[in-house]
Amino acid sequence: MLQSSLESQSCVDLAKRAVDIHLDHYGGKRLPYVCVSATGLRQRFVRLEGPDAGSELDVMDAGGGYASACLGAGHPDICKAAVHSLENDGYVTDEIASKVRSDLLISLFEEGGYWYDRFPASKYHVSGRNSGSEGVELALRLALETRWDARRMCWYNERRQRRLILAFEGAWHGWTSAGVSLLNRTYFRRGLVDELAGDPNSWQVVFLPFGESAILEEFFKNNKDNVLAVLVEPIQGDAGIVVPPKGFLRRMAELCRIHEVLLIADEVLTFAKTGDFFALQDDDPVPPTLPSLGRALDSGLAPFQWSSPGVSLTSVQSAESPRVIFVPLRVRSYRLASTAW
Ligand SMILES: Cc1ncc(COP(=O)(O)O)c(C=O)c1O
Repeated sequence: MLQSSLESQSCVDLAKRAVDIHLDHYGGKRLPYVCVSATGLRQRFVRLEGPDAGSELDVMDAGGGYASACLGAGHPDICKAAVHSLENDGYVTDEIASKVRSDLLISLFEEGGYWYDRFPASKYHVSGRNSGSEGVELALRLALETRWDARRMCWYNERRQRRLILAFEGAWHGWTSAGVSLLNRTYFRRGLVDELAGDPNSWQVVFLPFGESAILEEFFKNNKDNVLAVLVEPIQGDAGIVVPPKGFLRRMAELCRIHEVLLIADEVLTFAKTGDFFALQDDDPVPPTLPSLGRALDSGLAPFQWSSPGVSLTSVQSAESPRVIFVPLRVRSYRLASTAW
């Protein structure tokens, strides 16, 4: 423990003043510390409460800023790239091509690129989003659109009955409303409209225990033609780092393929944390239809929001067309990502 100081006491006062202003997502369970600075893996905390209030702690960040800062705080290359980007890159929007974005996409998805083996440019489209939640929302939106024939402006008869989205108990997919409907957590679902229950065009989420192959088989046996999509965290993060048994993910992907079900991989937490970029694998990579990546790509730097005005969704959704990979990126993070790799 470090010495308490005048400076840390003033941090306590400041943090306490702001506590009530800051929306508490955690229902009063926020940890009683304030982070006053961070470098690399080291974070300086000050206690907010108790007899030691005002005393300092040196804490090792083993969580990568809750999965947003894989390279630690204040990495010099990232800082350099951020400054360079602020000074030079201008806006990055969906309406116009961007040099930094092009550089990154080519270095990741074209032949010879970092992710070419798994996500070749010929098979995937990429969309930048601001957050993991938005990536999951977009995946859900695209999945729902596969039931709709945009050219004839009518439902595909053979897909219309596919209303079931399979999600897993304990999973976390984000805060936005559609994402929250994919969580089986009463607390977070409070206040949510109950899945548009009577509407034949709506979706219905079914929750199964994570990693239970027999239950999964049974589910597909009973519902095969009604399942639209499966949404899975390859390793459940918020549930307590739950690794599924060997074979589970591969079998899940097989069942999806057999029954023409879209497989959405939520890699927001797992991305670049397991020794590989992607955790959806079972010895060998398991290809998802719609992978959604995490904020580690921009190293948690979000001084600005890049609000994209929406993508042309239907253009990417015929059975033969390339699939979509979501790379939640905030403004200027293209340069950050290129710099990181
Ligand atoms: C697996 C998973 N999906 C989605 C999200 C939502 O990401 P974001 O907080 O960037 O919206 C999170 C956030 O922790 C997550 O862990």
